[in-house]
Amino acid sequence: MLRFDVLTLFPGMFAPVLTHSMLKRGYEKGLLAVKVHNLRDFTADRHKVVDDMPYGGGAGMVMKAEPILLAVAALRTEARANGEDIRMMFPTPHGRPFTQDYAQKLAAESRRIVILCGHYEGVDERVRMTLAPEEVSLGDYVLTGGELPALVLIDAAARLVPGVLGDPSSVLEESFSEALLEYPQYTRPAEVGGIGVPDVLLSGHHEAIRLWRRKQALRSTYLRRPDLLKDRMFTKEDQQLLDELMSEGLLTAPTSCLEEGQVHESVGANSAVVDKKIGTEL
Ligand code: ADE
Repeated sequence: MLRFDVLTLFPGMFAPVLTHSMLKRGYEKGLLAVKVHNLRDFTADRHKVVDDMPYGGGAGMVMKAEPILLAVAALRTEARANGEDIRMMFPTPHGRPFTQDYAQKLAAESRRIVILCGHYEGVDERVRMTLAPEEVSLGDYVLTGGELPALVLIDAAARLVPGVLGDPSSVLEESFSEALLEYPQYTRPAEVGGIGVPDVLLSGHHEAIRLWRRKQALRSTYLRRPDLLKDRMFTKEDQQLLDELMSEGLLTAPTSCLEEGQVHESVGANSAVVDKKIGTEL
């Protein structure tokens, strides 16, 4: 079983995500366990203070060290009593980039994975000095806290635990596991806003479909993420598919035809879609 303990000031952010879809299934099958701990429960004062002004001045508040250190000590004691160990993680923009490889290693972790969610302007440096957590970054941007990254780590790792997804082949086929982007998928109806489905997918010819998908995956990767193909050894089949794409002139056109915010005109013009009330206010 893959086990996470999350330390957070906002425990309410987790249940809405963890109680849906595959994560819920992982839970129900006993393959995943996530315990969410409120850092305020590890304060000693009446007001349950978890943050304070930075020494030296400056804007914003800093998360206090003691509640975090107390929480981790409690988890460590509990783990030891069960003959277990913990792995301490801390999502920050300074961390090691989170990748599919990283997720794979997390998924195979036998220790309890403790994720510390930081907030405000930062966390007292003595937390880093004392716990030496493994810092992990989701990307070169700054989020308001570590809760969304924690959910991303849990989601990306949990779905790789055997049995969490219904069809294990979907893990094998998908993007990045094999370092190729995914081929395009279609489902009913056969026509949407005047756009049909490639004939080969309706042909029932399994080998032709496999080759078409492989070719589309190669094309998509070449056009969107050429870095993934760098230094790659191609099979004879892949090389042939790439040659075909090249001679068909399909390796030069941009794949993403729509700019940010644009909608394909045939969809935008469909008033049944546009007239529906969009979204629900929280
Ligand atoms: N916390 C705030 N921003 C973050 C990021 N980009 N990755 C991980 N943790 C973060």
